Amino acid sequence: MNLTPLQKITYGLYVVGCYSDDRPVGCIINTCFQVTSENPVLAISLNKNNFTLDAIRRNPRFSLSILAEDTDPSIIGKFGFCSSRDNDKYSGYGYKDLDGAPAVNGKFCGRLILDAFDFVDCGTHIIVIGRLKATYEGEGRPMTYSYYHEVIKGSAPKNAPTYREEPASETQPAAKRVYKCDVCGYTVECDGELPADFTCPICGVDRSHFKEV
Ligand SMILES: Cc1cc2nc3c(=O)[nH]c(=O)nc-3n(C[C@H](O)[C@H](O)[C@H](O)COP(=O)(O)O)c2cc1C
Repeated sequence: MNLTPLQKITYGLYVVGCYSDDRPVGCIINTCFQVTSENPVLAISLNKNNFTLDAIRRNPRFSLSILAEDTDPSIIGKFGFCSSRDNDKYSGYGYKDLDGAPAVNGKFCGRLILDAFDFVDCGTHIIVIGRLKATYEGEGRPMTYSYYHEVIKGSAPKNAPTYREEPASETQPAAKRVYKCDVCGYTVECDGELPADFTCPICGVDRSHFKEV
């Protein structure tokens, strides 16, 4: 089957936040949509391996922070490429408690607070269905998934429902060199050698994780 048309489906980007016991945990998702308008219900899709799903099953209150185009992109790296199982993702950013759910500090277009009330098994992923409990207005233009790919030049890990293998890169003009982060897929173009002190603006890893492509 040709899966290319799936890439034409549009998404936003969100940080899911919840508590595991008293510890704030969470992850990045692109899969979120509003299901009903009256007494609003929303749905998100979470991989069964994600610790965030585990935490929401134990404590159903969670937040969704809607990313803006100028949200600090390192939040995507921190929340999207490592697990809360063995990381404090909120260190370095801080968070505020909104109605019993953690919301990472930073610039966001808005925040939603929900209570999960149903879990639909879709194989590798679970659709978590939640009732909207509170909203908070923010600022900025919502970051779309294509903005993330095309402007921020990030990619998605295998746990993301929309993960896709990257196509082989095209040959670059002789003068330009392109380096790619082997953790998050961020690519950077430069005229010569990538500087030794370069760090990934998405996931924060050092120069040793960049390979020329
Ligand atoms: C751009 C992007 C989109 C993602 N979308 C989803 C998603 O919709 N659902 C999901 O389960 N994981 C998604 N992920 C992957 C999770 O954020 C990632 O697996 C994370 O490490 C899980 O952390 P946790 O174990 O603390 O829950 C996405 C990651 C990125 C970078």
